Amino acid sequence: MSQGALPGFRDFYPDQLATRNYLMLVWRDIARRYGFVEYDGPPLEPLELYTKKSGEEIVGQLYTFTDKGGRQVALRPEMTPTLARMVAAKANAMRKPIRWFSIPQLFRYERQQKGRLREHFQLNVDIIGESSVAADAELLAVAIDIMRAVGLTSKHVRARVSDRRLLTSLLVSAGVEENELARVFAAIDKTGREPREVTRDKITAAVASEDARKSIERLLANAKDLDALAKEFASSPQVLEEIARMREYLAFLAALGVGDWIDFDLSIVRGLAYYTGNVFELFDATGEFRAICGGGRYDDLLATIGGVDLPALGFGMGDVVLTEILRGRNLLPTPVLSAEYWVAAEDESMLSEVMRVAGRLRAKSRSVEYALKPQTLSRQLKSASSAGVTSVVLLRRPDYQNGKVTVKTMADGSEQNVGLDAFLDSL
Ligand code: HAM
Repeated sequence: MSQGALPGFRDFYPDQLATRNYLMLVWRDIARRYGFVEYDGPPLEPLELYTKKSGEEIVGQLYTFTDKGGRQVALRPEMTPTLARMVAAKANAMRKPIRWFSIPQLFRYERQQKGRLREHFQLNVDIIGESSVAADAELLAVAIDIMRAVGLTSKHVRARVSDRRLLTSLLVSAGVEENELARVFAAIDKTGREPREVTRDKITAAVASEDARKSIERLLANAKDLDALAKEFASSPQVLEEIARMREYLAFLAALGVGDWIDFDLSIVRGLAYYTGNVFELFDATGEFRAICGGGRYDDLLATIGGVDLPALGFGMGDVVLTEILRGRNLLPTPVLSAEYWVAAEDESMLSEVMRVAGRLRAKSRSVEYALKPQTLSRQLKSASSAGVTSVVLLRRPDYQNGKVTVKTMADGSEQNVGLDAFLDSL
């Protein structure tokens, strides 16, 4: 019995690979427009690279084993720790801010669900060495420009933005203790995906003070309203400072031409442990899919992983959800899988001549197929047609000896008798 791929792993048949390549082409093109350069790292890393700082959720999903040298290793579940290590190792020698992107294949032993597999390709775009809010705006503009480039609009996709510093200052000013913050973050992070009562129970379990819990309720009720939050917490200078930073971020996003894609949303916290500031996620506006993309600022990670104190921010955008959305909206281009030319000969004995002409077309950078064994002309033409080529170059013995071929355009069946050299020169 033939065995399929492992659950959550994909076989990429040519049409599926063409779709993946299309996305990667767009990713590379937009990253380039913003001045990012591509890097890569190893798919297998020391286990401790992730146990240090990624957070419980992702560590619980690791593909991990002991290698033959007794090392504890893991397939990379995300790129950020590798990036942090690579940059920290050469930080002094590099011009800042560093603008890097990568398209790694990542592995997570996830619960099977729509939009989540056990391997995926993820565009990572990161800026390292810049703490200004302008960098946060620049980064999110890259993600949104990719949405535009694949034909999506601000009606289809929303960018939800928040800031962990703002959330922290609000919670502290609401009376939440420092040691209660992590559990409150985790509860708020899941608000979109869990019933309200579950969130409430989690917050009750996490926060001792009843007043603080009531403030959190009010805070969550106003999670999308920056003005209301500013009013309610007007007595806290820390909160007001964070709100001013958020307003500056929103103003920069507007200046970059992506303002109409943005929703402020305090319930965006993100699951990964290392984020320290601005956080964001892109979602399909129907709410049907998991996040298209997620990222934020992680100003402490380079110090933790590589002993170099550099602010950093970035995002990851997977291929799975985005492909599903584009397919659902009929926005995926039809893959071109056929060659342009088919070289055929009238005479079954002319295979070597066919090869010579194919070679000359290929030297002109054209894609070419022909029958890989002697065949009758009608068979060859049938193959050419089912291969979907644009044109057939037909060799007829007396013509060919006089340097001439017939070029048949498949779309309308028209034929042209032309000199082979002149035809090749015209390409
Ligand atoms: P993340 O939110 O874990 O962030 O993943 C980012 C994106 O990768 C998700 O929004 C989703 O599109 C895709 N993704 C994640 N897991 C899966 C999966 N199991 N199947 C399909 N797609 C998936 C990070 O990984 C951060 N390291 C991103 C980052 C880069 N932050 C800063 N720089």
